[in-house]
Amino acid sequence: MAIRNIRIIGDSVLKKQSKEVKEMSPKIKILIKDMLDTMYAAQGVGLAAPQVGILKRIVVIDISPEGDSPIVLINPVILETSGEQTGEEGCLSVPGKSGTVTRPNYVKVKAFNENMEEVIIEGTELLARAFMHEIDHLYGELYVDKVIGGLRSVNNDEEND
Ligand code: NI
Repeated sequence: MAIRNIRIIGDSVLKKQSKEVKEMSPKIKILIKDMLDTMYAAQGVGLAAPQVGILKRIVVIDISPEGDSPIVLINPVILETSGEQTGEEGCLSVPGKSGTVTRPNYVKVKAFNENMEEVIIEGTELLARAFMHEIDHLYGELYVDKVIGGLRSVNNDEEND
């Protein structure tokens, strides 16, 4: 188990574009494991590789209360979105803050899993929000630029994306 350092807003790496993963390697396998360890340790529901300083198109998500249902998305592409939801969002790179963001309520994503097998995953509500938030990170976008009405301070023990 290895916890990586989470980059905080203001770090220029968070504003950069991530690159496609061409093939799986032992190094990328370790990165994915470390991203999951880091996300769980920080009690987040999602983490993108640039948040640990690696500009690769890799995202991990787990919205389950038990933290036993990890989703790994490599080179994710949004195929379809529909509907709308407006709700609270946070980010491990923006500690202690949350804000209201409008996102699609349904998102269909194509990606590769950790075995580089193509997968298509659909999500609604929190999962749809997590897909959008984490994939935004791969384009150097942070939710703070999409917040309606400004950021708020939250308790440290609240969940973050
Ligand atoms: Ni985030």
